[in-house]
Amino acid sequence: MAIPNIIAIDGPAGSGKSTLGLKLARLLGYLYFDSGVMYRAVTSAALKRALDINDEGQMTRLSETAQIDVRPPSVADGRDNDVLVDGEDLTPWLRTPEVDAKVSIVSAYPGVRKALSAQQRRIGLRGKVIMIGRDIGTVVLPEAELKIYLDASVEERARRRYQECLARGENIPFEQVLASMRARDRIDSTREVAPLKPAEDAIIINTDNLSVEQVFEKIKALVGFQSEKAAV
Ligand code: DC
Repeated sequence: MAIPNIIAIDGPAGSGKSTLGLKLARLLGYLYFDSGVMYRAVTSAALKRALDINDEGQMTRLSETAQIDVRPPSVADGRDNDVLVDGEDLTPWLRTPEVDAKVSIVSAYPGVRKALSAQQRRIGLRGKVIMIGRDIGTVVLPEAELKIYLDASVEERARRRYQECLARGENIPFEQVLASMRARDRIDSTREVAPLKPAEDAIIINTDNLSVEQVFEKIKALVGFQSEKAAV
């Protein structure tokens, strides 16, 4: 019982959840599971199949019937995982501006959330897991022993996302990244079902003026702090 078995990391886009979640999972030898890729997978499949993103019924049916597989990476192109929908590798599509622009609409539909969060919960309950998302501590895994909520200003988060786009060779104006981030924040935090917000027992870390290493030190201390408390 030294280390929390289920660790939830929530927060807005660009707050550092995936970088820090992955580092922590490697340190602990835990499964890293990014719940956002499931919403991105459904959105990518809908766009590829020319379905109507604004049709809640179609999106719900797709979420209920699509076979989403998250597997270890088969290609060394910087991806954390392969993400397949009905056997088709959609990984290259997941982080495109088109998906960025639509994923919050799809993930606001209650039927979509019900289907995907049930799958996430089943995976999380197996334990030894770091699950990242928006509602992991509040809805998907409220029993998580450690809940971390990472935050940062929208300008700082857009700057980080902009640097990632540049590193991938995508040339998008900063203003566009910022506007897209603002739009996503608004939809994610005002939707009726499972809006983005810290769980009451989450530990909030503002990462605005901190490096990845500095945030990681804080998180490691929290994991250690928890283990000391459990040992008393
Ligand atoms: O973390 P991300 O940017 O890859 O997430 C993509 C979208 O999916 C995000 O705009 C909100 C949604 N999402 C969600 O609603 N609940 C989660 N647990 C994870 C992601």
